[in-house]
Amino acid sequence: EKGTYPHFMLKEIDEQPFVIRKIIQEYQDENDQIKLDPDVRQAMTKCDRVYIIACGTSYHAGLIGKQFIEKLAQTPVEVHVASEFSYNMPLISDNPLFVFISQSGETADSRAVLVETKAKGYPALTITNVPGSTLSREADYTLHLHAGPEIAVASTKAYTAQMAVLAILAVDTAQAKGIELEFNPMKQLGIAANAMEALCDQKEEIEQISADFLPTTRNCFFIGRSVDYYVGLEGALKLKEISYIQAEGFAGGELKHGTIALIEEGTPVVALATQENVNYSIRGNVKEVAARGANPCVISMKGLDQEGDTFVIPEVHELLTPLVSVVPMQLIAYYAALHRDCDVDKPRNLAKSVTVE
Ligand code: M6R
Repeated sequence: EKGTYPHFMLKEIDEQPFVIRKIIQEYQDENDQIKLDPDVRQAMTKCDRVYIIACGTSYHAGLIGKQFIEKLAQTPVEVHVASEFSYNMPLISDNPLFVFISQSGETADSRAVLVETKAKGYPALTITNVPGSTLSREADYTLHLHAGPEIAVASTKAYTAQMAVLAILAVDTAQAKGIELEFNPMKQLGIAANAMEALCDQKEEIEQISADFLPTTRNCFFIGRSVDYYVGLEGALKLKEISYIQAEGFAGGELKHGTIALIEEGTPVVALATQENVNYSIRGNVKEVAARGANPCVISMKGLDQEGDTFVIPEVHELLTPLVSVVPMQLIAYYAALHRDCDVDKPRNLAKSVTVE
């Protein structure tokens, strides 16, 4: 039930800090160590490469998951859109592990890949919000997202839950491989949950940003570098699916290779700046688009913020910024849809779980 909330989407956005805290609880034992199915641990340490398969928002979570697993556990990862995987199947390593990320666990495109890879004898892990779902039943192992039912078609809390579980999985794998880490996932996820909660309390400010930047616009671009690029892809997907504004995410460095031609007087460009190593370059991109008439909406992280930034998110560990920076993106999309009188929870032409290929 949505209780006092006007829409499930808003309720689910608000639930995110609690979901992250629930995940911390569920994946921690009484000695504050990571608690994870030993078979999953073994599968992760045994494999020489992880193949993440997913669609839509879950694919975007997979892109962030790759960063966690490669940076922390030092295992190579490929991330594939499920519907494309079979046409050009990559060369598969000697000991692959297929990881299916799916909120519903029912997505037909992902299931088709699972059927195919299972037939080849490859092991599979499903990360899902619905443990009894098809993808969970048919895979060898399951990790549960503990996000509670997600009703709105636009996925929000499942995305942040997927990233949190992937971060824990990456750290667990690193530990099992004997890699020393300074990153304490539970502590850092707790800090991220608090930051998310603070952002959920700034709805009025974010609603105003949405009204200022997207009042009647036809299109909107999201730019970022490194993980901010991936969060931009998710921000663009949220905005397009519920507000019908044509929204696209781009890597900052790719602008000059084509996209900048689309910038007109007043085009809104949401730029994310949460990563120190790319802060200088993304700021350069903001100047480039502004010089061509764009209306830049800069969302930066505290410590990296500059005068004139539109919105500043609290400081969190650099690996976990996507969990936090996505919250204003979700809310911007929500208010844009609301102001356009769109059916927020049930956007046109879309289904919550896509059970056809
Ligand atoms: O249930 P799944 O995570 O497998 O669903 C995948 C996509 O269909 C889903 O994320 C879709 O992109 C959402 N509507 C995005 O908000």
